[in-house]
Amino acid sequence: MPASDTLPHSVADALHQRRSVRAFSDRPVDPEVLKRIFAAAQRAPSGGNLQPWQATVLTGAPWQQVKDAVGARLAMGRDGYQPEYDIYPKGLTEPWESRRFGIGEALYASLGIPRENKAGRLAQFVENYRGFGAPVMLFLHCSRIMGPPQWSDMGMWLQSVMLLLVENGLASCPQECWAMYGATVRETLGLGDDQILFAGLAIGHADEEAAVNQWTVPRVGVEEAIDWQGF
Ligand SMILES: Cc1cc2nc3c(=O)[nH]c(=O)nc-3n(C[C@H](O)[C@H](O)[C@H](O)COP(=O)(O)O)c2cc1C
Repeated sequence: MPASDTLPHSVADALHQRRSVRAFSDRPVDPEVLKRIFAAAQRAPSGGNLQPWQATVLTGAPWQQVKDAVGARLAMGRDGYQPEYDIYPKGLTEPWESRRFGIGEALYASLGIPRENKAGRLAQFVENYRGFGAPVMLFLHCSRIMGPPQWSDMGMWLQSVMLLLVENGLASCPQECWAMYGATVRETLGLGDDQILFAGLAIGHADEEAAVNQWTVPRVGVEEAIDWQGF
């Protein structure tokens, strides 16, 4: 755990400190800390108080089983895909396409993997399916009957968990990539077809030395997001 003086002292601090960590140490995570975090995250708001989020949290052998099962699908190439939903809209336009492209390029640049090194880029992408070495993996899912409003509720719960992890000196990476192998993940977790898998959340202690953890993803200026009226 980082020294207590580096822990966030406010919600704004936690927001600034949280980032997607893509290399974890093998230091285990105290389940009692996770229990407190999930209890606190139950305070996340949801339309109609539906609280649609459901999560399965894994470590040790059950986590390894998911990695093995998805690894077998990965080995099948495109034939192995079982997309649970469209991760991005088909035909993503500007400005969103550039933002998506930019994050990929910055990620590979941080690792010194040029565009020509397709095998190197693929190897880094496949790290997703090891949870970047995280000792704990959380899979976030909900009933398949839920729609966009309830998916936004899941997002609020997810951000609540990520900020609480920061407060406790823990790191995370949200991962939609698991939705590419939704059926295999659900089967391995023992979830029925009535559930839909949204994302994984890799949880652990950041490997502070790893190059991939040394950069901060920029954001567009607030003026691009907020239109003030009547002020
Ligand atoms: C729902 C969700 C799914 C994501 N899926 C992935 C993923 O599969 N793999 C990955 O490396 N990053 C994933 N990310 C991380 C984003 O790339 C990251 O949040 C964004 O680039 C901003 O960077 P930051 O989180 O470090 O601030 C995901 C983020 C969210 C919120």
